[in-house]
Amino acid sequence: MNLFDVYPINPINIVKGVGSLVYDDRGTEYLDLYGGHAVISIGHTNPHYVKRLEDQLHKIGFYSNSIEIPLQKQLAEKLGQVSGKDDYQLFLCNSGAEANENALKLASFYNGKKKVIAFRKAFHGRTSLAVAATDNPKIVAPVNETDNVIFLPWCDEAALEQAFAQNEVSSVIIEGIQGVGGIQVATESFLQKIRSLCDEHNAVFIADSVQCGYGRTGKFYSHDFAGVNADIYSMAKGMGNGFPIGAISISPKIKPAYGMLGTTFGGNHLACAAALAVLEEIEQNNLMQNAAEVGEYLIEELKKFEQVKEVRGRGLMIGIELPEELAHVRKELLNKHHIFTGEAKPNVVRLLPALNLTKAHADQFLDAFAQTLKAANVTA
Ligand SMILES: Cc1ncc(COP(=O)(O)O)c(C=O)c1O
Repeated sequence: MNLFDVYPINPINIVKGVGSLVYDDRGTEYLDLYGGHAVISIGHTNPHYVKRLEDQLHKIGFYSNSIEIPLQKQLAEKLGQVSGKDDYQLFLCNSGAEANENALKLASFYNGKKKVIAFRKAFHGRTSLAVAATDNPKIVAPVNETDNVIFLPWCDEAALEQAFAQNEVSSVIIEGIQGVGGIQVATESFLQKIRSLCDEHNAVFIADSVQCGYGRTGKFYSHDFAGVNADIYSMAKGMGNGFPIGAISISPKIKPAYGMLGTTFGGNHLACAAALAVLEEIEQNNLMQNAAEVGEYLIEELKKFEQVKEVRGRGLMIGIELPEELAHVRKELLNKHHIFTGEAKPNVVRLLPALNLTKAHADQFLDAFAQTLKAANVTA
């Protein structure tokens, strides 16, 4: 049987990881500033995480949501505390797409309306409504096409006002920082505008925090920089440090009813143990503060490179926009300097490392980046 060939892959077989370092089957060491796409939040094989999962595995790994799972309550309590939204309610699922799918559905249950506002270059996942709210026609199958989603230009307040005036809007879904869209930071005034229009029209503000959330920007949710609350926060990626888990955190104004949402795997014992280990590590080692500090340092240093067109982002979610002539930089960082980074089309290098990235590793990257640019000898 062959694998269904949907990924262009690097011919590298990673067999081991420790913190921000990973090793291939030939023993070559790589610096991981990609975290398997923003997933590794507390570092590979983090000892506290490994122990918590191992201990749980010896007790029980899985049982369904038909019984009491106290670990879910512990997780809800800890998440409420660390995210600063302890009056919110937690629904657990398995991935980012599933979290957004549930958020959009819940919004529509809540207000009985159908239209969803999403934004140009948004990425919300690959399931039916999540992909319909994703601005990439290539990954939307005919069966997913719907006129319930309205795409608006990024951070255009007038367009948003107009859309609310002309439609029965159920929800607005927005990444606090677009990831796939090239690390575009939503302006605080735009997020505040979404809040006030949603209040005015009884629509639901959905903060897609799958990539930009979980402490990566220095605040738990990057939308928090705007000083307003969303009604639903979706999360996944960093939540389980590699263990598949997703969730939505739901405002107290949205009331649950039996059968409204559901899942077989979501919130199982092992997933909760993984998510608790991540939150405990974030809290005990001040990882949000580390993300803010090391991120700010990286951003400031990167801005000094003349050849770089623009540096965008917050904390450890950074986009380095390069001119066309430097399109090879990412490959060279990997092949020559053994540094994993992410990309966004056309020429953005994305940094999404673990939140406990050290300054020494940041410097290792800056040094390799400087060498790569110097060798290319291009001026902006
Ligand atoms: C902002 C955002 N939302 C949703 C998703 C989908 O998450 P998943 O791949 O876990 O379904 C992603 C994945 O990259 C994402 O970046």
